[in-house]
Amino acid sequence: MSNPLNSTAARKETEKLRTEIERHNRLYYVEAAPEISDREYDALLKRLEVLEKQFSELVTPDSPTQRVGGEPLKGFQNVRHTVPMISLANTYSKDELVEFDGRVRKLLSDTEYTYVLEPKIDGVAISLRYEDGLLVRAVTRGDGTTGDDVTANIKTIRSIPLRLSKDAPDVLEVRGEVYMTRNGFAKLNDERQEAGLDAFANPRNACAGSLKQLDPREVAKRPLDAVFYGLGECSTNFETHEQLLSSLTNYGLRITPQYWSCAEISEILAKLDALEEMKSSFPFEMDGGVIKVNQRDLYETLGSTAKSPRWAVAYKYEPEQAETLLKEITIQIGRTGVLTPVAELEPVQLSGTVVKRATLHNEDEIKRKDIRIGDRVIVEKAGEIIPAVVRVVTEKRTGKETPFDMQAVCKALDIAPVKREGEVAWRIADLHHPAMLKRWLTYFASRGAMDIAGLGESVVEQLVDELDLKSPADLYDMTKEQLLGLERFAEKSAQNLIHAIEASKQQPLARVLFALGIPHVGAGAARILADHFGSLDALLEADLETLQDIRDIGPIVGQSILDFFASDETRRLIERLRAAGVNFAQSAGGQTDELAGLTFVLTGTMESMTREEAGEVIQQRGGTVSSSVSKNTDYVVAGEKAGSKRKKAEELDVKILDESAFLELLGNVEATPPSSQNATRTSRLQKKDPDQGELF
Ligand code: IVH
Repeated sequence: MSNPLNSTAARKETEKLRTEIERHNRLYYVEAAPEISDREYDALLKRLEVLEKQFSELVTPDSPTQRVGGEPLKGFQNVRHTVPMISLANTYSKDELVEFDGRVRKLLSDTEYTYVLEPKIDGVAISLRYEDGLLVRAVTRGDGTTGDDVTANIKTIRSIPLRLSKDAPDVLEVRGEVYMTRNGFAKLNDERQEAGLDAFANPRNACAGSLKQLDPREVAKRPLDAVFYGLGECSTNFETHEQLLSSLTNYGLRITPQYWSCAEISEILAKLDALEEMKSSFPFEMDGGVIKVNQRDLYETLGSTAKSPRWAVAYKYEPEQAETLLKEITIQIGRTGVLTPVAELEPVQLSGTVVKRATLHNEDEIKRKDIRIGDRVIVEKAGEIIPAVVRVVTEKRTGKETPFDMQAVCKALDIAPVKREGEVAWRIADLHHPAMLKRWLTYFASRGAMDIAGLGESVVEQLVDELDLKSPADLYDMTKEQLLGLERFAEKSAQNLIHAIEASKQQPLARVLFALGIPHVGAGAARILADHFGSLDALLEADLETLQDIRDIGPIVGQSILDFFASDETRRLIERLRAAGVNFAQSAGGQTDELAGLTFVLTGTMESMTREEAGEVIQQRGGTVSSSVSKNTDYVVAGEKAGSKRKKAEELDVKILDESAFLELLGNVEATPPSSQNATRTSRLQKKDPDQGELF
């Protein structure tokens, strides 16, 4: 009897899967031309995990399953750079660029040369060492001579290959920049604010802070990415910088989305303006352009000063800032009740948009910057969308400015603020306060949560003010007649809203958990909890130990979940939602996706189920059932008396599962912890997730 899960077959399959996953990573991250869906990608990864779990001897350090390491580190090792990581000379002046070109020309006398212009990424410099194609070490710049070994953290960045393509040099030290994506940064800061933590000042700080984390599992949650633009030690020579860039791409490494090759410095000057215009189209913060001599064989002749090379220079753009009047400081209530002070500004033009509001993060920040109402302030765009108040123009103070008094503003709004131990943020104490309730209902109905179309802010206002709704559970008791009594509702719109509310009862568990508004539990954590526990009741049973053992949850989130569910109010809410018929199990239709992307052919008879039943199980888990065997078939499930299909499978080298192996596969799939899988899925889907951010 052929058992496909013997060690030789498993080895073959793991190798094939790894090559496939690497190829898809490259298509997705480097070439931006994915061939398969995220679901199919996840299915490949899941299959690899299943095999590696069963045959632990097959796990290799470069396996895509090994991106998120085990235990937190005690500290970072200091590593000496084989080739020092020197920095670049900076200038804000185009005249100085012309002078730079003059110096290059003089040093090279009659030799011909050209330039390459690249965006200057405002991130954290990194050096990766690949030996025989395998990523062996990642080191930060540090003081230029020695840096920190952050390999475990770097491996969590999915666009960084753990293994390069076959034609990569034996030794390749590649240098580049790790950055936090601007969208990811905005989202992360929102979440931090919600959790009562300090917001990061800008994506670069957030990136540097992330790389300093000792727990790679934490780093895996941060939206980090990287591009490469230079070399340290390398066993191959590249004639030009352009050749280096195209080779890096061939090896599977990402480079900047755009660069220009220019014959003359005058061309560079013109391109620098064009580059500045493109600023917002890059996923990273760009603070200038880097001009490099293209011919690498001239680098030796040109040499370096102690600090920087003579063959390259950085031109920096002035940061985009604007001055305006801070008219008022209001308070925004977050989904879990965090109170965020917001600057109401005299509208001002900044990087192509009109800015009217800016976040002030929290009370401490206002005090630290001594921001007062009536001040002239400098605003800057920190991330893509969030403008921030950088500083006060104190020389323009008239003496009429008034300090912000958080307590007084709260009092005027009839809000009692409370502060939790260790948090900087104030929170609203009374979760039934109409302002809080409105915020909660809007969030409960939002796209990432229960997705109730037609239940936006203005409708919520009416429901709370006029129908006296007190809880999201009240939505499910609402009648069409009640809605018809409200201004703005007619027969059709009332009917539609009632329908949408009814339909929301079938939302998957992950969304329901997210909609509950558990402090510290965003969309990602909600999905992890749903996958792990499978039902709300199982989650309700969990103790702190169970919760904090789940990858990506940890003690703080775990405690927050416990506190939330321990409250009588939450219990009452849950029971009311349950009575209304809201789905509290993994997925309304029992549909899951463990077998997504896999095609099965069923043949012969099985003891434990009919072919039809087996087909149903496969489909329920996201797999596909086909009637004929081809090279695209992943498994042939062969019961007793299997005939020609089994033969065909043997000819085409398609894996054959007998009944027990098939059941084992189903069992394994079910038993596989979803944790690391989720980390992948979340990060690959991040771009598509509706932004659950605040209202800027
Ligand atoms: S080339 C010998 N190219 O900016 C130094 N650096 O301010 C070679 N940076 O140290 C560096 N984008 O960390 C280079 N396209 C780019 C860059 C870039 C950002 C960083 C890098 C460098 C710093 C200098």
